[in-house]
Amino acid sequence: MRIGVLASGGGTNLQSIIDNSEKYSWKVGIVISNNEDAYALERARRQGIKSVYLETPENMLKYKPGTDIEEIMKDPARRDYDILISELLDQHKIKVVALAGYMLFVTPELINNHDIINIHPALLPSFKGLHGVRDTYNYAVRITGCTTHFVDDKEDHGPIILQAFTPVFPYDTEESLIKRNLKREHLLYPETLRLYGKGVEIKDRRVLYEVDDEHVEFQNKLLEMFRGDFGDYYTHGKQK
Ligand code: GRF
Repeated sequence: MRIGVLASGGGTNLQSIIDNSEKYSWKVGIVISNNEDAYALERARRQGIKSVYLETPENMLKYKPGTDIEEIMKDPARRDYDILISELLDQHKIKVVALAGYMLFVTPELINNHDIINIHPALLPSFKGLHGVRDTYNYAVRITGCTTHFVDDKEDHGPIILQAFTPVFPYDTEESLIKRNLKREHLLYPETLRLYGKGVEIKDRRVLYEVDDEHVEFQNKLLEMFRGDFGDYYTHGKQK
């Protein structure tokens, strides 16, 4: 399976996908970024993966968070940008597109022509938007997590594939929470793509897949991680 990755930042999720290439017989065929300095591009180059920087359309910069997504979707410059991406994906025979810290909305030009999966650093439908972890942290919930989902034309909205939960402790900072949550993300994305590669079905939003031994192992790893985090929590409590 050939995967295309769109990323705007550090690319640790991209790395987790690359690191599982051999195990799951997939290949990242192209990495595209709207950010010239994205470390994700550097990661791709280092692995000999085709990497492309496409400058963010200028008028995209005028959109502030909270702008009506329909307005963005209708913008011809945004459409043209996604047509370009779509052509690149086709040229590189990409089957599925993984958004990994990609900071632009995608338009129907992409959504209608490719299967697109996104990872969001919160338990959707809570804390949608650009600052999933910050918003979660500021709201001071006790449990958060991350979500993989198919992308549709609404923000962080398409059918959910997998979710993992992450505890939030009173002594957490935004940074410690990001770190704990990312550990789950790096398990969640490869497992999501593995299930996708085996074939999933979507019925009334519900994403159906076969629960095989590897999936059980994945779920067990998440539970172990959760237990491990609580171990740290108790130790921290006793040290006080
Ligand atoms: C992740 O937290 C992801 O959920 C969000 O953006 C962040 C990207 O991190 N969409 P990285 O670039 O993969 O390290």
